[in-house]
Amino acid sequence: MLYNIPGESVSLDVSIRVESALEAQTLAISNTAKRMKAEGIDVVSLSVGEPDFDTPQCAKDAAIRALNDNFTHYTDSNGIAELREEIAKKFREENGISHAKASNVIVSGGAKQCIYNTLMALCNEGDEVIILAPYWVSYPAMVVMCGAEPIVISGDYDNQYKVTPNQLKSAITPKTKCVILNSPSNPTGMMYTENEIREFAEIIAESDCYLLSDEIYEKLTYSDIKHFSPASIPELSSKVITVNGMSKAYAMTGWRIGYMHAPDHVFKEVSKVQGQSTSHPNSIAQKASLAALQEGNADIERMRISFAQRKELTCAMLSEIPGLKFHNPDGAFYVFISFDEITDDVDFCSYLLEHHHLALVPGDAFGCPGALRISFAASEETLRKGIERLALGLKAYGNSK
Ligand SMILES: Cc1ncc(COP(=O)(O)O)c(C=O)c1O
Repeated sequence: MLYNIPGESVSLDVSIRVESALEAQTLAISNTAKRMKAEGIDVVSLSVGEPDFDTPQCAKDAAIRALNDNFTHYTDSNGIAELREEIAKKFREENGISHAKASNVIVSGGAKQCIYNTLMALCNEGDEVIILAPYWVSYPAMVVMCGAEPIVISGDYDNQYKVTPNQLKSAITPKTKCVILNSPSNPTGMMYTENEIREFAEIIAESDCYLLSDEIYEKLTYSDIKHFSPASIPELSSKVITVNGMSKAYAMTGWRIGYMHAPDHVFKEVSKVQGQSTSHPNSIAQKASLAALQEGNADIERMRISFAQRKELTCAMLSEIPGLKFHNPDGAFYVFISFDEITDDVDFCSYLLEHHHLALVPGDAFGCPGALRISFAASEETLRKGIERLALGLKAYGNSK
């Protein structure tokens, strides 16, 4: 598309790849909610994907030490050696990825950058990347920006939104470059069991494609299902890229630290993408992350317990509201609600924000219309107020139609 530049006689275009990618609807909604709050409106926002807790003290102390020690210059572009060592140890000891080595770890500006760098390093024009819906909003846009085509396969509500091995098998073609798996899932909180992941792994092992495992919610789990990393399966060691980060479990969203482990040949190219684009993540945040990984376990358990209580409250309150259904999430901090009557979830979310001052994210943003996502990363008081507004809004919306 050509843009007329105001006051000039030229028309210029921009990248078709970037132009055709969607903006993150989650960010757009939380920005609108912030703007309304700034105007003095009592908005309840249950739209954000970030903990409301403070960053653990050990991380803050390490950051202050780093500043005072003038640790404020360029670092190794893949991240500082001691942090990469700590991450490799974590992958070996907590995730069973016995081949994990510091030399295959890259630290980036958030898990988001790890995923983007990886797709950039893997994809050619014409490649396909399989995404399991409901999906995290950024996957399709990133795939499009990297020149590939997102192929979306959807899980059914009745199957807890899980995609079946048969669905995956039928979606793989000679053009498939990568499959993105996210367990625990944003937006549904669903977790695949070890057996289910092993079934996917068998299919991937027989195909010429990679598996990108986004494990950012690994530590926030509440059910009997144990988190399982596909990279721990020896047959997949040359095919799996594991992504994780500090944002969610450590309440460190603003520090922007994510990390990944990749097989040698992928690592080399991802490292090039990072080295030639952003160099490395912030030096101080790297030191803070090292301290959080080494000393923050008690903090993350404390936050997990709070999240578990908030989940209980959210699910109990939601189950009292007629006309909606949901699954009790296994992990993350979201409940994904599906409606019997409402098909236009985007309209419903705009209505809720405008008339009931409640910000939620429509299912459409996650490739699943007719639903919406509620985040329980908020205080009990905020949750109560928000869910009461949802109940009122749902009733009033039905009457207004
Ligand atoms: C599934 C998933 N992956 C990755 C990210 C990105 O996290 P980060 O803050 O580390 O970039 C998010 C953040 O919302 C997410 O929900």
